[in-house]
Amino acid sequence: MPLSAFLRPFLILGLSAGFAGITIAKLLIAGNIRALLSWRTFQSHWFANFWTLFGPISAGMDAHKARAAVGAAYGVVLDLGPGSGLTVCHFDAAKVTKIYGVEPCVELHAQLQQRVAEAGLKDVYQILPCGAEELAAYGIERESVDSVVCCKVLCGIPAPERVTKELYAYTKPGGQFLVWEHVRNGRCTPIRGFQRVLQFVWPHLLQGCNINRPTDEILRNAGKWDSVALGYDQEQSSWDPVPFVEGRLIKAKE
Ligand SMILES: C[S@@+](CC[C@H](N)C(=O)[O-])C[C@H]1O[C@@H](n2cnc3c(N)ncnc32)[C@H](O)[C@@H]1O
Repeated sequence: MPLSAFLRPFLILGLSAGFAGITIAKLLIAGNIRALLSWRTFQSHWFANFWTLFGPISAGMDAHKARAAVGAAYGVVLDLGPGSGLTVCHFDAAKVTKIYGVEPCVELHAQLQQRVAEAGLKDVYQILPCGAEELAAYGIERESVDSVVCCKVLCGIPAPERVTKELYAYTKPGGQFLVWEHVRNGRCTPIRGFQRVLQFVWPHLLQGCNINRPTDEILRNAGKWDSVALGYDQEQSSWDPVPFVEGRLIKAKE
């Protein structure tokens, strides 16, 4: 494994920690004391500042993977955690009829809206200012969704076992989950131990993200599938501390 892959988690943590200070300074300058007094609101501002810089770097490194996942979406789509919209350009406008961008970080909505417009998706893309666990409040009906896009998001949702089961219930029989997610390293025990150590600080500095979540297993157990084509990114070493899985799960027709 190249040293850079080993150092990457520390660089990400360091960068995010630095943005905590920048966020405090920005909020003080803006006189937004209320945001400083609510941990949740502060975290949201903090993540938005961090992701505005780091998101494009991350998207530049894995654009081909995000394109494979997002580009396969069709019909009615749940775009989970689109953030600042760095992946919306990958949607095939000819294949989608409606996209719900489920994004709780409202500080990123302006960037998301702008990228939606640039992608020519303004008429079909609707931003829902909520988490994936709150969709019932927005009138999404059971078995109404064709494609659930999961691109670097399931690492941070609360109660992933319950929420992925709920997302499964929103999906039509024969509908699909499209996946590009970082997960627990299931191929290398020492690195799994390293992830476990990192996990002590990771969620606190990265707004609830989990570095060692077995999202692949959680998805497999979310319901009955007709097909599961989900595997580790073969471009990464099995020693990578931030290993990704990619692929597609198709919900059973009956
Ligand atoms: C690492 S960013 C990825 C953004 C985007 N998918 C991309 O690839 O550029 C994760 C995103 O998930 C969002 N998020 C966090 N908790 C969420 C939840 N419970 N439901 C949906 N999205 C969530 C965050 O606000 C953030 O924008």
